[in-house]
Amino acid sequence: MTPIIQLGIGGVGRALARQIVAVAPAIRRRYGIDLRYIAIADSRGIIAGDPTVSEEQVHQILAVKEAGHGLDSMTNAITDRHWIELLPATIAIVVDVTATSEHTAPLAAAVSAGHRVVLANKRPLCDEYDLFTALTERGATRYEATVGAGLPVIGVLQGLLDTGDEVLRIEAALSGTLGFLMSALEEGSSFAEAVWKAHALGYTEPDPRDDLSGADVARKALILARTCGIPVPADAVSAESLFPPQLATVSVAEFLQRLPEAEESVMERFAAARAAGNVLRYITCITPDNIEVGLRELPADHPLAGLRGPDNMISFTTRRYHDRPMVIRGPGAGVEVTATGVLSDIIATAREL
Ligand SMILES: NC(=O)c1ccc[n+]([C@@H]2O[C@H](COP(=O)([O-])OP(=O)(O)OC[C@H]3O[C@@H](n4cnc5c(N)ncnc54)[C@H](OP(=O)(O)O)[C@@H]3O)[C@@H](O)[C@H]2O)c1
Repeated sequence: MTPIIQLGIGGVGRALARQIVAVAPAIRRRYGIDLRYIAIADSRGIIAGDPTVSEEQVHQILAVKEAGHGLDSMTNAITDRHWIELLPATIAIVVDVTATSEHTAPLAAAVSAGHRVVLANKRPLCDEYDLFTALTERGATRYEATVGAGLPVIGVLQGLLDTGDEVLRIEAALSGTLGFLMSALEEGSSFAEAVWKAHALGYTEPDPRDDLSGADVARKALILARTCGIPVPADAVSAESLFPPQLATVSVAEFLQRLPEAEESVMERFAAARAAGNVLRYITCITPDNIEVGLRELPADHPLAGLRGPDNMISFTTRRYHDRPMVIRGPGAGVEVTATGVLSDIIATAREL
Protein backbone atom coordinates (compact mmCIF):
# COMPACT_ATOMS: atom_id res chain seq x y z
CA MET A 1 0.00 0.00 0.00
CA THR A 2 1.17 3.57 -0.74
CA PRO A 3 -0.17 5.77 2.09
CA ILE A 4 -1.15 9.32 1.16
CA ILE A 5 -1.77 12.28 3.44
CA GLN A 6 -3.45 15.13 1.56
CA LEU A 7 -3.29 18.67 2.94
CA GLY A 8 -6.01 20.87 1.41
CA ILE A 9 -9.32 19.85 -0.10
CA GLY A 10 -10.25 22.99 -2.04
CA GLY A 11 -10.70 23.19 -5.81
CA VAL A 12 -7.52 21.28 -6.72
CA GLY A 13 -7.74 18.96 -3.68
CA ARG A 14 -11.29 17.84 -4.51
CA ALA A 15 -10.45 17.26 -8.19
CA LEU A 16 -7.42 15.25 -7.03
CA ALA A 17 -9.45 13.12 -4.59
CA ARG A 18 -11.95 12.32 -7.34
CA GLN A 19 -9.19 11.43 -9.79
CA ILE A 20 -7.42 9.20 -7.24
CA VAL A 21 -10.62 7.28 -6.47
CA ALA A 22 -11.30 6.91 -10.21
CA VAL A 23 -7.83 5.70 -11.28
CA ALA A 24 -6.83 3.66 -8.19
CA PRO A 25 -8.15 0.30 -9.55
CA ALA A 26 -6.35 0.77 -12.89
CA ILE A 27 -3.11 1.77 -11.15
CA ARG A 28 -3.42 -1.30 -8.92
CA ARG A 29 -3.83 -3.56 -11.98
CA ARG A 30 -1.15 -1.85 -14.07
CA TYR A 31 1.62 -1.42 -11.50
CA GLY A 32 0.53 -3.36 -8.44
CA ILE A 33 0.41 -0.03 -6.57
CA ASP A 34 -2.35 0.47 -4.02
CA LEU A 35 -2.89 4.23 -3.57
CA ARG A 36 -4.65 4.80 -0.23
CA TYR A 37 -5.46 7.93 1.71
CA ILE A 38 -4.56 7.67 5.35
CA ALA A 39 -5.58 11.27 6.10
CA ILE A 40 -7.14 14.30 4.44
CA ALA A 41 -6.92 17.75 6.06
CA ASP A 42 -8.42 21.17 5.51
CA SER A 43 -7.70 24.33 7.52
CA ARG A 44 -9.97 23.19 10.34
CA GLY A 45 -9.57 19.47 10.80
CA ILE A 46 -8.23 16.13 9.68
CA ILE A 47 -10.10 12.98 8.74
CA ALA A 48 -7.82 10.02 9.36
CA GLY A 49 -8.42 6.43 8.28
CA ASP A 50 -8.46 3.30 10.36
CA PRO A 51 -5.99 2.48 8.91
CA THR A 52 -7.05 3.99 5.55
CA VAL A 53 -9.78 6.43 4.53
CA SER A 54 -12.38 4.36 2.66
CA GLU A 55 -13.77 5.41 -0.72
CA GLU A 56 -17.09 6.05 0.99
CA GLN A 57 -15.41 8.39 3.48
CA VAL A 58 -13.69 10.24 0.61
CA HIS A 59 -17.11 10.84 -0.96
CA GLN A 60 -18.45 12.05 2.41
CA ILE A 61 -15.50 14.47 2.70
CA LEU A 62 -16.15 15.76 -0.82
CA ALA A 63 -19.83 16.27 -0.01
CA VAL A 64 -19.02 18.15 3.21
CA LYS A 65 -16.53 20.46 1.43
CA GLU A 66 -18.85 21.04 -1.52
CA ALA A 67 -21.56 22.07 0.94
CA GLY A 68 -19.11 24.72 2.21
CA HIS A 69 -18.39 23.13 5.60
CA GLY A 70 -15.09 22.43 7.34
CA LEU A 71 -13.86 18.93 8.06
CA ASP A 72 -14.20 19.77 11.76
CA SER A 73 -17.96 19.43 11.22
CA MET A 74 -17.57 15.67 10.66
CA THR A 75 -18.04 13.46 13.69
CA ASN A 76 -14.70 11.64 13.43
CA ALA A 77 -12.60 14.78 12.75
CA ILE A 78 -9.26 15.29 14.48
CA THR A 79 -8.72 18.88 15.54
CA ASP A 80 -6.09 18.56 18.26
CA ARG A 81 -3.26 16.76 16.47
CA HIS A 82 -0.82 17.77 13.74
CA TRP A 83 -0.79 15.67 10.55
CA ILE A 84 2.88 14.91 11.12
CA GLU A 85 1.84 12.72 14.08
CA LEU A 86 -0.18 10.59 11.64
CA LEU A 87 2.81 9.64 9.46
CA PRO A 88 3.16 5.86 9.40
CA ALA A 89 6.29 3.81 10.00
CA THR A 90 6.41 3.00 6.25
CA ILE A 91 7.10 5.67 3.62
CA ALA A 92 4.12 7.93 2.95
CA ILE A 93 3.48 10.57 0.30
CA VAL A 94 2.40 13.93 1.75
CA VAL A 95 0.53 16.01 -0.82
CA ASP A 96 0.25 19.76 -0.24
CA VAL A 97 -2.59 21.31 -2.24
CA THR A 98 -3.11 24.22 0.12
CA ALA A 99 -2.01 27.79 -0.55
CA THR A 100 -0.31 28.33 2.80
CA SER A 101 3.35 28.37 3.83
CA GLU A 102 2.64 26.95 7.27
CA HIS A 103 3.42 23.37 6.24
CA THR A 104 6.89 24.15 4.85
CA ALA A 105 8.90 23.18 7.94
CA PRO A 106 6.78 20.06 8.75
CA LEU A 107 7.10 18.94 5.11
CA ALA A 108 10.89 19.29 5.34
CA ALA A 109 10.78 17.29 8.60
CA ALA A 110 8.74 14.57 6.86
CA VAL A 111 11.32 14.44 4.05
CA SER A 112 14.19 14.14 6.51
CA ALA A 113 12.30 11.24 8.15
CA GLY A 114 12.31 9.50 4.74
CA HIS A 115 8.80 10.37 3.50
CA ARG A 116 8.04 11.87 0.09
CA VAL A 117 6.25 15.07 -0.83
CA VAL A 118 4.17 16.19 -3.83
CA LEU A 119 3.22 19.85 -4.23
CA ALA A 120 0.80 22.00 -6.19
CA ASN A 121 1.42 24.65 -3.55
CA LYS A 122 4.32 26.89 -4.58
CA ARG A 123 4.97 28.43 -1.19
CA PRO A 124 7.04 25.62 0.40
CA LEU A 125 9.54 25.96 -2.46
CA CYS A 126 9.76 29.75 -2.15
CA ASP A 127 10.93 29.97 1.46
CA GLU A 128 14.61 30.14 2.43
CA TYR A 129 16.90 28.40 -0.05
CA ASP A 130 18.00 25.91 2.62
CA LEU A 131 14.40 24.73 2.93
CA PHE A 132 14.15 24.34 -0.84
CA THR A 133 17.23 22.10 -0.81
CA ALA A 134 15.98 20.22 2.27
CA LEU A 135 12.71 19.47 0.48
CA THR A 136 14.14 18.59 -2.92
CA GLU A 137 17.36 16.74 -2.03
CA ARG A 138 17.55 13.25 -3.50
CA GLY A 139 14.39 14.04 -5.49
CA ALA A 140 12.26 13.65 -2.35
CA THR A 141 9.74 16.26 -3.50
CA ARG A 142 7.97 16.40 -6.84
CA TYR A 143 6.35 19.69 -7.82
CA GLU A 144 5.33 19.54 -11.48
CA ALA A 145 1.96 21.27 -10.88
CA THR A 146 3.56 24.37 -9.32
CA VAL A 147 4.54 25.74 -12.77
CA GLY A 148 2.19 25.40 -15.74
CA ALA A 149 -0.33 23.23 -13.78
CA GLY A 150 -0.60 19.94 -15.74
CA LEU A 151 1.94 20.93 -18.42
CA PRO A 152 5.22 19.01 -18.27
CA VAL A 153 7.58 21.83 -17.35
CA ILE A 154 9.56 20.86 -14.25
CA GLY A 155 10.07 17.25 -15.42
CA VAL A 156 11.32 18.45 -18.82
CA LEU A 157 13.67 20.97 -17.21
CA GLN A 158 15.03 18.36 -14.78
CA GLY A 159 15.46 15.93 -17.71
CA LEU A 160 17.51 18.50 -19.63
CA LEU A 161 19.71 19.21 -16.61
CA ASP A 162 20.08 15.53 -15.61
CA THR A 163 21.34 14.66 -19.08
CA GLY A 164 24.05 17.30 -18.95
CA ASP A 165 22.40 20.07 -20.93
CA GLU A 166 22.94 23.67 -19.85
CA VAL A 167 20.06 26.12 -19.64
CA LEU A 168 21.02 29.44 -21.20
CA ARG A 169 17.64 31.17 -21.06
CA ILE A 170 14.06 30.44 -20.06
CA GLU A 171 11.42 32.75 -21.46
CA ALA A 172 7.88 32.10 -20.34
CA ALA A 173 4.33 33.37 -20.08
CA LEU A 174 3.27 31.80 -16.80
CA SER A 175 0.02 33.54 -15.92
CA GLY A 176 -3.20 32.55 -17.62
CA THR A 177 -4.92 35.57 -16.09
CA LEU A 178 -2.38 38.07 -17.37
CA GLY A 179 -2.41 36.35 -20.78
CA PHE A 180 -6.19 36.70 -20.89
CA LEU A 181 -5.87 40.42 -20.04
CA MET A 182 -3.28 41.07 -22.78
CA SER A 183 -5.49 39.36 -25.37
CA ALA A 184 -8.48 41.42 -24.20
CA LEU A 185 -6.48 44.65 -24.71
CA GLU A 186 -5.58 43.48 -28.22
CA GLU A 187 -9.30 42.98 -28.89
CA GLY A 188 -9.98 46.62 -27.96
CA SER A 189 -10.92 46.35 -24.29
CA SER A 190 -9.70 48.86 -21.73
CA PHE A 191 -7.54 47.49 -18.90
CA ALA A 192 -10.20 48.03 -16.23
CA GLU A 193 -12.88 46.39 -18.40
CA ALA A 194 -10.60 43.43 -19.07
CA VAL A 195 -9.95 42.92 -15.33
CA TRP A 196 -13.64 43.27 -14.48
CA LYS A 197 -14.50 40.67 -17.12
CA ALA A 198 -11.74 38.27 -15.99
CA HIS A 199 -12.91 38.66 -12.39
CA ALA A 200 -16.56 38.06 -13.29
CA LEU A 201 -15.61 34.93 -15.27
CA GLY A 202 -13.62 33.60 -12.29
CA TYR A 203 -10.32 33.75 -14.23
CA THR A 204 -8.65 35.83 -11.52
CA GLU A 205 -8.03 34.96 -7.90
CA PRO A 206 -10.87 36.22 -5.65
CA ASP A 207 -8.60 39.22 -4.98
CA PRO A 208 -7.38 40.10 -8.52
CA ARG A 209 -4.31 41.80 -7.01
CA ASP A 210 -2.87 38.31 -6.38
CA ASP A 211 -2.57 38.04 -10.17
CA LEU A 212 -1.99 41.69 -11.06
CA SER A 213 0.88 42.14 -8.58
CA GLY A 214 2.82 39.44 -10.46
CA ALA A 215 3.62 37.76 -7.10
CA ASP A 216 2.35 34.37 -8.25
CA VAL A 217 4.46 34.56 -11.44
CA ALA A 218 7.47 35.62 -9.34
CA ARG A 219 7.06 32.43 -7.26
CA LYS A 220 7.02 30.31 -10.43
CA ALA A 221 10.13 32.13 -11.69
CA LEU A 222 11.87 31.45 -8.37
CA ILE A 223 10.98 27.74 -8.58
CA LEU A 224 12.25 27.48 -12.18
CA ALA A 225 15.50 29.28 -11.32
CA ARG A 226 16.09 27.16 -8.22
CA THR A 227 15.35 24.01 -10.23
CA CYS A 228 18.13 25.13 -12.58
CA GLY A 229 20.42 25.09 -9.55
CA ILE A 230 20.61 28.86 -9.13
CA PRO A 231 20.62 29.51 -5.35
CA VAL A 232 18.14 32.41 -5.50
CA PRO A 233 17.25 33.75 -2.04
CA ALA A 234 13.59 34.01 -1.02
CA ASP A 235 12.02 37.34 -2.07
CA ALA A 236 14.90 38.03 -4.49
CA VAL A 237 12.56 37.96 -7.50
CA SER A 238 10.60 41.15 -7.84
CA ALA A 239 7.67 41.33 -10.21
CA GLU A 240 6.24 44.36 -11.95
CA SER A 241 2.85 45.20 -10.50
CA LEU A 242 0.04 46.32 -12.83
CA PHE A 243 -1.64 48.59 -10.29
CA PRO A 244 -0.41 51.66 -8.39
CA PRO A 245 0.70 51.38 -4.73
CA GLN A 246 -2.31 53.36 -3.44
CA LEU A 247 -4.55 50.44 -4.47
CA ALA A 248 -2.50 47.82 -2.62
CA THR A 249 -4.29 47.98 0.72
CA VAL A 250 -7.89 48.91 -0.09
CA SER A 251 -10.71 46.34 0.00
CA VAL A 252 -11.33 44.14 -3.05
CA ALA A 253 -14.56 45.98 -3.80
CA GLU A 254 -12.82 49.37 -3.64
CA PHE A 255 -9.91 48.04 -5.70
CA LEU A 256 -12.28 46.92 -8.45
CA GLN A 257 -14.10 50.22 -8.36
CA ARG A 258 -10.88 52.27 -8.53
CA LEU A 259 -9.27 50.12 -11.28
CA PRO A 260 -9.42 53.01 -13.79
CA GLU A 261 -6.54 54.51 -11.70
CA ALA A 262 -4.36 51.66 -13.05
CA GLU A 263 -5.53 52.29 -16.60
CA GLU A 264 -3.17 54.99 -17.82
CA SER A 265 0.20 53.36 -17.27
CA VAL A 266 -0.80 49.97 -18.72
CA MET A 267 -2.61 51.47 -21.71
CA GLU A 268 0.34 53.80 -22.45
CA ARG A 269 2.66 50.78 -22.57
CA PHE A 270 0.16 48.91 -24.73
CA ALA A 271 -0.21 51.83 -27.19
CA ALA A 272 3.57 52.33 -27.41
CA ALA A 273 4.09 48.63 -28.18
CA ARG A 274 1.38 48.68 -30.83
CA ALA A 275 2.77 51.86 -32.45
CA ALA A 276 6.16 50.14 -32.75
CA GLY A 277 4.56 47.06 -34.37
CA ASN A 278 5.21 45.04 -31.21
CA VAL A 279 3.01 43.22 -28.71
CA LEU A 280 2.89 43.50 -24.93
CA ARG A 281 3.24 40.33 -22.85
CA TYR A 282 3.72 39.68 -19.12
CA ILE A 283 6.76 37.45 -19.21
CA THR A 284 9.42 35.78 -17.14
CA CYS A 285 12.97 35.74 -18.41
CA ILE A 286 15.58 33.69 -16.54
CA THR A 287 19.26 33.56 -17.39
CA PRO A 288 22.05 32.27 -15.14
CA ASP A 289 22.67 35.85 -13.94
CA ASN A 290 19.28 37.50 -13.99
CA ILE A 291 15.54 36.97 -13.41
CA GLU A 292 12.99 39.41 -14.79
CA VAL A 293 9.23 39.28 -14.30
CA GLY A 294 7.07 41.94 -15.88
CA LEU A 295 5.50 43.52 -18.95
CA ARG A 296 7.74 43.41 -22.00
CA GLU A 297 7.36 44.60 -25.58
CA LEU A 298 8.04 41.70 -27.93
CA PRO A 299 8.43 41.69 -31.71
CA ALA A 300 5.44 40.16 -33.48
CA ASP A 301 7.49 37.12 -34.58
CA HIS A 302 8.62 36.26 -31.03
CA PRO A 303 7.22 32.82 -29.96
CA LEU A 304 5.51 34.36 -26.90
CA ALA A 305 3.87 37.03 -29.07
CA GLY A 306 1.71 34.35 -30.70
CA LEU A 307 0.06 33.41 -27.40
CA ARG A 308 -3.68 34.11 -27.14
CA GLY A 309 -5.89 33.98 -24.08
CA PRO A 310 -4.98 32.16 -20.89
CA ASP A 311 -2.48 29.64 -22.31
CA ASN A 312 1.00 29.33 -20.80
CA MET A 313 4.16 28.99 -22.86
CA ILE A 314 7.64 28.08 -21.68
CA SER A 315 10.63 28.23 -23.98
CA PHE A 316 13.96 26.65 -22.99
CA THR A 317 17.06 27.84 -24.83
CA THR A 318 19.85 25.45 -23.89
CA ARG A 319 23.24 24.39 -25.19
CA ARG A 320 21.52 21.59 -27.13
CA TYR A 321 18.29 23.41 -27.99
CA HIS A 322 20.12 26.50 -29.15
CA ASP A 323 19.04 27.47 -32.65
CA ARG A 324 15.42 26.59 -32.02
CA PRO A 325 14.35 26.53 -28.36
CA MET A 326 12.27 23.74 -26.87
CA VAL A 327 8.75 25.10 -26.39
CA ILE A 328 5.92 23.82 -24.17
CA ARG A 329 2.51 25.39 -24.58
CA GLY A 330 -1.02 24.81 -23.33
CA PRO A 331 -3.51 25.51 -20.53
CA GLY A 332 -1.52 26.48 -17.44
CA ALA A 333 -4.33 26.61 -14.88
CA GLY A 334 -7.58 24.93 -13.92
CA VAL A 335 -8.34 22.51 -11.11
CA GLU A 336 -8.64 19.36 -13.26
CA VAL A 337 -5.35 19.78 -15.15
CA THR A 338 -3.57 20.88 -11.96
CA ALA A 339 -4.86 17.79 -10.13
CA THR A 340 -3.67 15.68 -13.06
CA GLY A 341 -0.16 17.13 -12.65
CA VAL A 342 -0.27 16.26 -8.94
CA LEU A 343 -1.61 12.77 -9.55
CA SER A 344 1.11 12.04 -12.14
CA ASP A 345 3.68 13.03 -9.53
CA ILE A 346 2.01 10.78 -6.93
CA ILE A 347 2.02 7.81 -9.32
CA ALA A 348 5.64 8.47 -10.35
CA THR A 349 6.66 8.66 -6.68
CA ALA A 350 4.73 5.48 -5.81
CA ARG A 351 6.35 3.61 -8.72
CA GLU A 352 9.76 4.77 -7.55
CA LEU A 353 9.04 3.51 -4.03
N1 LIG B 1 -6.33 26.39 -9.25
C1 LIG B 1 -5.36 26.27 -10.16
O1 LIG B 1 -5.57 26.36 -11.37
C2 LIG B 1 -3.95 26.03 -9.70
C3 LIG B 1 -2.93 25.82 -10.64
C4 LIG B 1 -1.63 25.52 -10.19
C5 LIG B 1 -1.37 25.50 -8.83
N2 LIG B 1 -2.38 25.77 -7.94
C6 LIG B 1 -2.07 25.78 -6.53
O2 LIG B 1 -2.75 24.70 -5.89
C7 LIG B 1 -3.03 25.06 -4.54
C8 LIG B 1 -4.50 24.82 -4.23
O3 LIG B 1 -5.28 25.66 -5.07
P1 LIG B 1 -6.88 25.66 -4.94
O4 LIG B 1 -7.37 26.41 -6.10
O5 LIG B 1 -7.36 24.29 -4.68
O6 LIG B 1 -7.05 26.52 -3.59
P2 LIG B 1 -8.34 26.56 -2.62
O7 LIG B 1 -9.56 26.17 -3.38
O8 LIG B 1 -8.27 27.87 -1.95
O9 LIG B 1 -8.06 25.39 -1.56
C9 LIG B 1 -7.10 25.48 -0.58
C10 LIG B 1 -7.33 24.37 0.42
O10 LIG B 1 -6.28 24.42 1.38
C11 LIG B 1 -6.88 24.31 2.69
N3 LIG B 1 -6.01 24.89 3.70
C12 LIG B 1 -5.71 26.19 3.94
N4 LIG B 1 -4.88 26.29 4.99
C13 LIG B 1 -4.66 25.02 5.42
C14 LIG B 1 -3.91 24.47 6.46
N5 LIG B 1 -3.20 25.23 7.27
N6 LIG B 1 -3.90 23.11 6.62
C15 LIG B 1 -4.62 22.30 5.80
N7 LIG B 1 -5.37 22.79 4.78
C16 LIG B 1 -5.38 24.12 4.61
C17 LIG B 1 -8.18 25.03 2.57
O11 LIG B 1 -8.99 24.65 3.66
P3 LIG B 1 -10.49 25.20 3.84
O12 LIG B 1 -11.27 24.40 2.83
O13 LIG B 1 -10.78 24.83 5.24
O14 LIG B 1 -10.45 26.66 3.56
C18 LIG B 1 -8.64 24.50 1.20
O15 LIG B 1 -9.22 23.23 1.38
C19 LIG B 1 -2.60 26.52 -4.39
O16 LIG B 1 -1.32 26.57 -3.80
C20 LIG B 1 -2.54 27.03 -5.82
O17 LIG B 1 -1.62 28.09 -6.00
C21 LIG B 1 -3.65 26.00 -8.34
